[in-house]
Amino acid sequence: MALASSFYNDPDFDYRKYWQGREYEDWAERWALQQLFARIQHINGPPQKKTVLDVGAGFGRLAKFYLPRVKGALLLEPADKLIKQGEIYLKGYKNFHYYRGNVESLVHFSTSFDIVLMIRVSHHLNNLFHALQLLWQVTAPGGFLIVEIPNKFHFRQVMRQLLRWHFGYFNNFSVDRRSPKRQKKNVIPFWNHSPWRVKADAKMIGWELEEELSVSNFRCRWIKKYLPQRLTFFLERHSQKLLGHLYFGPSIFFLFRRAND
Ligand SMILES: C[S@@+](CC[C@H](N)C(=O)[O-])C[C@H]1O[C@@H](n2cnc3c(N)ncnc32)[C@H](O)[C@@H]1O
Repeated sequence: MALASSFYNDPDFDYRKYWQGREYEDWAERWALQQLFARIQHINGPPQKKTVLDVGAGFGRLAKFYLPRVKGALLLEPADKLIKQGEIYLKGYKNFHYYRGNVESLVHFSTSFDIVLMIRVSHHLNNLFHALQLLWQVTAPGGFLIVEIPNKFHFRQVMRQLLRWHFGYFNNFSVDRRSPKRQKKNVIPFWNHSPWRVKADAKMIGWELEEELSVSNFRCRWIKKYLPQRLTFFLERHSQKLLGHLYFGPSIFFLFRRAND
């Protein structure tokens, strides 16, 4: 928690600014959530009566998507600065609360939630398996988990490794994206995970896979520069599901379900 909160509390780093110029990625993630909420509705009825837990909610970027659709949400966040920003950003919504804590604090939770989200957090976790176990414990039987992982095997990375003849890269261990200098300085970790490994771990814990989407498939400087945004959105909309099973893109969204007890 200390690492995460000091990184995101740093007065020189504004996570809201990180999103400036990333409208495509933001849109792609909302579109993925829309697809997955539609799937939840198809399996288990409308989400209006459901409760949400958003783990590592940040300033509530995605809360504006789910708050109008659900009964209420708890936003779990370790960084005070992001909590303060979130309370302002989500002003006008009455059905949410922030709770200061990290994924490890879930061990103290006795409440369970119908839908649990963990988006853009897994890259900071040294032990994703343990996190998936904790998330299972706070999900109601029959409930859902939407978890995003940065994909170790996204297409461009695979090509890069093949061209360099780095065949040692092709294993299921998570890979730390920090430079050796930042690792030495003990800066917050940035892991990329193997989707196959995450899927196998989740299965071992008891999660059933319902859907997998490949997200931000066209995240590329020259595409952003030369392709009209409407065309990129169109391509993204039609490729998330299609490319989901190929783990093509840099970000994979899984929808898991905790089986009824
Ligand atoms: C890249 S931000 C993502 C925020 C939000 N989910 C979003 O998609 O905009 C990563 C977030 O994870 C939080 N975080 C980092 N380590 C965490 C941990 N161990 N448990 C819970 N949250 C954590 C950070 O404080 C930060 O808010």
